[in-house]
Amino acid sequence: MCGIVGYVGDGNVYDILIKGLHRLEYRGYDSAGIALVTPEGKLNVYKAMGKVSNLEGFCKEKDLSGKAGIAHTRWATHGEPSDCNAHPHYSEDGNLAIVHNGTIENYKVLKDALAQHGCTFHSETDTEVLVQLIEYIKLKNNCELVDAVREALKQVVGAYAIAVIEKNNPDRIIAARKSSPLVIGIGDNEYFLASDATPFVEYTKECVYLKEEELAVIEKGEPLKILTLENQESKIDVTTLQMSISQLEKGGYPHFMLKEIFEQPNTLLDCIRGRVVAGGKHVVLNGVIDNIDKFLKAKRIVIVACGTSWHAALLGKYLIQGMCRIPVEVEYASEFRYSDPVLDEQDIVIAISQSGETADTLAAIQIARKMGAFVYGISNVVGSSIPRETDSGTYIHVGPEIGVASTKAFTGQVMVLTMLAISIAQVKETLSKEQIEELGKHILKIPKTVEKVLKLADKIERLSLIYTYARNFLYLGRGYSYPVALEGALKLKEISYIHAEGYPAAEMKHGPIALIDAEMPSVIIAPNDHLYEKIVSNVQQVKARGGSIIAIVTEGDTVIRNIADHVLEVPDMPECLTPIITSIPLQLLSYYIAINKGKDVDMPRNLAKSVTVE
Ligand code: M6R
Repeated sequence: MCGIVGYVGDGNVYDILIKGLHRLEYRGYDSAGIALVTPEGKLNVYKAMGKVSNLEGFCKEKDLSGKAGIAHTRWATHGEPSDCNAHPHYSEDGNLAIVHNGTIENYKVLKDALAQHGCTFHSETDTEVLVQLIEYIKLKNNCELVDAVREALKQVVGAYAIAVIEKNNPDRIIAARKSSPLVIGIGDNEYFLASDATPFVEYTKECVYLKEEELAVIEKGEPLKILTLENQESKIDVTTLQMSISQLEKGGYPHFMLKEIFEQPNTLLDCIRGRVVAGGKHVVLNGVIDNIDKFLKAKRIVIVACGTSWHAALLGKYLIQGMCRIPVEVEYASEFRYSDPVLDEQDIVIAISQSGETADTLAAIQIARKMGAFVYGISNVVGSSIPRETDSGTYIHVGPEIGVASTKAFTGQVMVLTMLAISIAQVKETLSKEQIEELGKHILKIPKTVEKVLKLADKIERLSLIYTYARNFLYLGRGYSYPVALEGALKLKEISYIHAEGYPAAEMKHGPIALIDAEMPSVIIAPNDHLYEKIVSNVQQVKARGGSIIAIVTEGDTVIRNIADHVLEVPDMPECLTPIITSIPLQLLSYYIAINKGKDVDMPRNLAKSVTVE
């Protein structure tokens, strides 16, 4: 939610910041803005509603010189998307500019207090309150900017990642974070600052992830200085990025989403590499093996996540319960945090998050750790907050996911959960050696199998034309295919804005069946598993009410093929591995429907890739 970029150095500040904003646009695109300190000590602030390209258009005839600068792409929280609510915000005397990601919860109290001291406000944002507070403290105490920022942040309740620049100090940026990410790139006599490393990966691979409640003094020609809010110097841990620039480009695809769907044979290969060994005989997930005692003693596992990651979590429940015979509960992180949970040292909490920054999931982790549970993270973004705040965990290693609709991260998460369940089961001996080897062999074949499933793309594109103007969709599945139905419905909703409901197929008769008519297509996920006969009846029930059916079936299916209007055949797989295969045609179907409707699939309205607010 909201992306921040900063730069100080001899490079072209404007170009670096704009390019960086494009990379962070997945975090929000309600408005964008930039503040530049010119060599003459002027502070120029430019803003525009909507995407970064609008800001570029607006800046065309402007003075774009700069020694340092900060920029922001916004996902609105306080105040509607508008020019005046766009960041950067500046202080009353025009000396300071700030960009902010997060939410200042006590901004109203602070705003009232500042108003009493004569401050006036030009926006509805919490951020403007913060910059006015910094200015107020700076003038009142006649102190350095860094001290004013530190004092201001002590008064703030809430989450923030901020960058502040000052007219009179054109070579310096002050940055700080709490619950929202910030990373500093260290170049050659230059520094970068961003919400994640993507804006600067082409300039430097050396970076420092700012920790909770740390503040950085980033000054050209000076060593980086990191302080706590108590003014203690912190140790600087430099990390070397593994990311490459080609991972951040579309590579010839029209959209990141399509690229990411087609990347899945490779991303799944990366996800299982070195983890399924000896020709499939063993699964080695280090995070699990290193903590195997905890998993063996666990009286239950609670999985917390949001959105697509929650759908993966639900599959995790089926996988872990089925293979390891450990009871599993699955909770929306946003509900879990306020549900007065009962947890103790014998519980394991698994937190799943692609971005590793989802605020609700982070809050759930903090509660779980406070209550003594062992917390295991499954994330994609290396160095993000969730891996740093969990006791142990596993990266899915699917590379940067830029399309707002999650695709390759979902299959990566499900793959990791499958390997996690097998790792425990092999020690617990709840699966036999033969069963493990059988699954292991199939896992090794998954990248090739996914490649085959992707060949359905043309057929799905043609099929999508028939259903582009449907106003509602029902997605049905049973067992392992039920979370796939939920995920398929979410994909369609978020990028095509068509209402879609995912349902356990057998629950349909308890209500949703009333919706079915010739106008309401059903997508039914019906691979050849132990519930196949049952779902055949559900398919018949839909047909009997005149509904049209798109069915995802196993190659060679003869029964559903004769009832459904359209079938998409996927290769045979052991039941627990089918979700990785059956979810792919659904990703493609939603993609093509959204494209037919002319929607912006990579940046759907109102959404952001990483949800760092409550
Ligand atoms: O980064 P996370 O996995 O924690 O994100 C959770 C959800 O915000 C995310 O999955 C969201 O639902 C996606 N837009 C789904 O495509």
